[in-house]
Amino acid sequence: MAGLVAALGACSAMVHAADENRSLGSIAKESWGKTSDGESVDLYTLTNERGEDTRVTNYGAIVVALTAPDRDGKFADVVLGYDHLDDYLKSSPYFGAVVGRYGNRIAAGRFTLDGKTYQLATNNAPGGVPCHLHGGNKGFDKVVWDAKGEMKDGAVGIRFHRVSPDGEEGYPGNLDITMHYWLTDQNEFRIEYAATTDRATPVNVTHHSYYNLGGHDSGTILDHELMIAADHITPVDKGLIPTGAFTPVAGTPFDFTSPTVIGSRVNADDTQLEYGLGYDHNFVLSRWDGKLRLAATVYDPQSGRQMEVLTTEPAIQFYCGNFLDGSNVGKGGHAYAYRTAIVLETQHYPDSPNHPDFPSTILRPGEEYRHTCVYRFSAR
Ligand code: BGC
Repeated sequence: MAGLVAALGACSAMVHAADENRSLGSIAKESWGKTSDGESVDLYTLTNERGEDTRVTNYGAIVVALTAPDRDGKFADVVLGYDHLDDYLKSSPYFGAVVGRYGNRIAAGRFTLDGKTYQLATNNAPGGVPCHLHGGNKGFDKVVWDAKGEMKDGAVGIRFHRVSPDGEEGYPGNLDITMHYWLTDQNEFRIEYAATTDRATPVNVTHHSYYNLGGHDSGTILDHELMIAADHITPVDKGLIPTGAFTPVAGTPFDFTSPTVIGSRVNADDTQLEYGLGYDHNFVLSRWDGKLRLAATVYDPQSGRQMEVLTTEPAIQFYCGNFLDGSNVGKGGHAYAYRTAIVLETQHYPDSPNHPDFPSTILRPGEEYRHTCVYRFSAR
């Protein structure tokens, strides 16, 4: 990284207000307000050597903004979000946040582990059926994380750390979790998760940015083309809980094995689409081996922006903003309407603690949870 020395200077100073004196390969930190409990929250601006930047806060480790160039080199902010901390505190459908301890749903908020039954919060009820969603009432998206700017050759980043205490939201064990967010000079947003526990617990942590490659305020994503390297989905019941079956995507509106316009089949007459109000499903990545590899590609033909998603995880939840209805008024006063974003959450399958035949999400003392996810931006 050419500007590394200068960049390290900027890093140690950590004083620039966002947008002021911003240099390539730098990290700037500013104070962003307080939570209702009086905890101080900061906003970090990371800028890579190519001028791509991201704004990240230590409240919920939320990605507030992320810019990427189009085919003419013009940058746009490609994630939905808010301008102010207060809006995130009031109500956010997990815009840009880390979700955990268990991302996605657990049926009735209940699971049995080593003979003991645990009851978690039931904070969601699709189809009128209560379940646990994204870690409960105060999940990882609603807490303040310890954060520290970091630099390495070719990337600027933030290290987040937190111990989720035993019993938090009903989960067993103290979970010690570290996440590194990197913005690389290859225009990648890379997340590395690592966690350990002192008691057996389910862990399924993921990232919840809502992407719109035309820009966060550019309207529907139904014209985006999507590829997901998945031959099966785990179909759901009306409560969006996996039935336990594996349905081949071939011949269904869920076949994204080659690039397909999202809107071309989203309104097809299909029970799964009816339950999800559109796409809101777990895609089982083919030939999973735990190594980092390409899982999905999204392309916006208008701007030419492309996003590749790489992961070490066995699955991706593809959600296309079916629950957005214009009531979230975001950055620049823009109201985010129905299906104006795509969320690609790299993860284990929903409700795995209740499905012994799904890949295990149970972390035990002495083991380490690891998960890497990369969102890589380019244009053509
Ligand atoms: C889920 C949706 C849910 C949304 C909440 C997504 O990850 O798949 O079902 O409504 O999060 O914002």
